[in-house]
Amino acid sequence: MSAAPSIGKKTVRDVEVAGKRVLLRADLNVPLADGAVADDTRIRESLPTMRYLLDHGALPVVCSHLGRPKGRDESLSLAPVAGRLGNLLDREVLFAGDCVGAPAEEAIRAAAPGQTVLLENLRFHPGEEANDPAFARALASLADLYVDDAFGAAHRAHASTEGVTHYLPAVAGFLMEKEVRYLQTLVTDPPRPFAAVIGGAKVSTKIAAIEHLLPKLDLLLLGGGMANTFLVATGVDVRMSLVEREQVDVARRILDRARGRVDVLLPVDVVSADRFAADASTETTPVTAVPPGYMILDIGPTTVAAYTRALQRAQAVVWNGPMGVFELEPFAAGSAGIARAIAALDATTVVGGGETAQVVASLGLAPRLTHVSTGGGASLEMLEGRQLPGVAALMDA
Ligand code: 3PG
Repeated sequence: MSAAPSIGKKTVRDVEVAGKRVLLRADLNVPLADGAVADDTRIRESLPTMRYLLDHGALPVVCSHLGRPKGRDESLSLAPVAGRLGNLLDREVLFAGDCVGAPAEEAIRAAAPGQTVLLENLRFHPGEEANDPAFARALASLADLYVDDAFGAAHRAHASTEGVTHYLPAVAGFLMEKEVRYLQTLVTDPPRPFAAVIGGAKVSTKIAAIEHLLPKLDLLLLGGGMANTFLVATGVDVRMSLVEREQVDVARRILDRARGRVDVLLPVDVVSADRFAADASTETTPVTAVPPGYMILDIGPTTVAAYTRALQRAQAVVWNGPMGVFELEPFAAGSAGIARAIAALDATTVVGGGETAQVVASLGLAPRLTHVSTGGGASLEMLEGRQLPGVAALMDA
């Protein structure tokens, strides 16, 4: 990838932060198990901006959403995140029991230099998702500057991602900058040959991304439940597999547009099962020989080998969506095989957030990829070529 193109937005490097209270929107929407942080990837990815602010004499006032609460819900408190954040930063983190009003103001007043304030879940207030100007103003009143590092929430026009930028100077943090840079480069000026590996359950959620990427692509590899609709478009009987019938014509149109320009590879063999369950009876067969009553739940080994070979010539790869039902062991091999193939490449390799990132993390392969996004919905919207409201709202460079 060409050296560090600008994202066209001011970043935390472009502004004076010393002595300032900085409202830092992070995406600390992490999975919890039994009240503890189950995966701290997003917290770790947020550390460089926090450390920069601390090292430059600012007070980080960190805010985030967690889950999708309807009003106050103690099971979705960010309190467990405060503990983990303090350990990772090796600094004291003061937790404020509300993200606006007296609890937030008191924590900020009490914070000594070197300390960080973490505010309670933004979504305990309906004004957050409603992008209510009064709520945005209340948040903004806590700080002198706004830094947005919440790439994972940048596709949401909420008070903490968009509204607040009307009341404070607004710049990008390092994670936001890194995410936008990698994904933007792939959709505008990718190294060639450029390959996209697209999977996931539903084709309807991936059509916009495929259509937007197609003119830039040299190679398109399809897998996951969404590939079934493409297989049907080529006349394959996929038996009981998930198919979005109303998308078959769309799939056919995409294959027509690609013909002669983009190599589109579809599964040639598959793992199918008589039930959607880890203990189902399974068969690995050519895609044209799925047993009656069976459903396709993974790509097969011949397909993994063919996709691996095809990827060898790519200079850039973007991967969004697993190749099968990777959560169930009998259907995990396809996604694992593709993850290993991509990780072995000497190319720019970018993986979308959400499930695809989970596959990569579960195999310990993240360090061998160029970039693993922290945003599922946000990275998909960037692949669709959409402007993210949380990015658009930041000050231009
Ligand atoms: C995510 O987990 O994808 C982001 O944190 C956004 O969460 P949301 O889909 O609830 O807005």
